[in-house]
Amino acid sequence: MVEVLGVAIGLLLVGVMVVLHFSSGTDRPIPDDISQSVLERRAASVPETDFPEPMNRSIGGGGAPAGAVGGGEAEGELAEGEATEAPSSPGEISDDEAEVFSVEYAKEGETLDVPENQTLLEAGEDQGWDMPYACRQGQCLSCGGHVADGPSEDYVVHDNQEMLEAEELDDGYTLTCVGYPKADLTLETRETP
Ligand code: FES
Repeated sequence: MVEVLGVAIGLLLVGVMVVLHFSSGTDRPIPDDISQSVLERRAASVPETDFPEPMNRSIGGGGAPAGAVGGGEAEGELAEGEATEAPSSPGEISDDEAEVFSVEYAKEGETLDVPENQTLLEAGEDQGWDMPYACRQGQCLSCGGHVADGPSEDYVVHDNQEMLEAEELDDGYTLTCVGYPKADLTLETRETP
């Protein structure tokens, strides 16, 4: 009796599974693929720039309307006429923009107008003076000079000098091959610490 009951229950379960297997289910609709339209909307909402992704998209959160990111195309670009990076060396300053300083060459007995984009060595050489030098790269002391007015870096911009210690600079010593004037000064050539 028990076996008959067990077989009957088993058959019943099998029947239920067969019915469920062939039933039509909930017939849930598959949504349309909207990925293309999302990409198109995104492209329309972010302004074009000349510099590459992804930095451009980070401006304004990437999904903001064009009008919300500073008016679109000009964002991230320099406006016309806006200043670019400052020159890394005084020698890169254009002649048009270079300020001119009065440099008294004490031993030569003359005062020259020296633009801030010219070295103290070159300015002397332009006069035909026999100025001392060797490497012309701030890596020896051959062109050494002395600023009579105080710490040399108050009067001179050194572009990559590698020889003078801070104390020597404070004492007024300079390397004329890489020394550009930034104020009026008196220079004694052929002076080294
Ligand atoms: S010539 Fe060598 S440091 Fe000026």
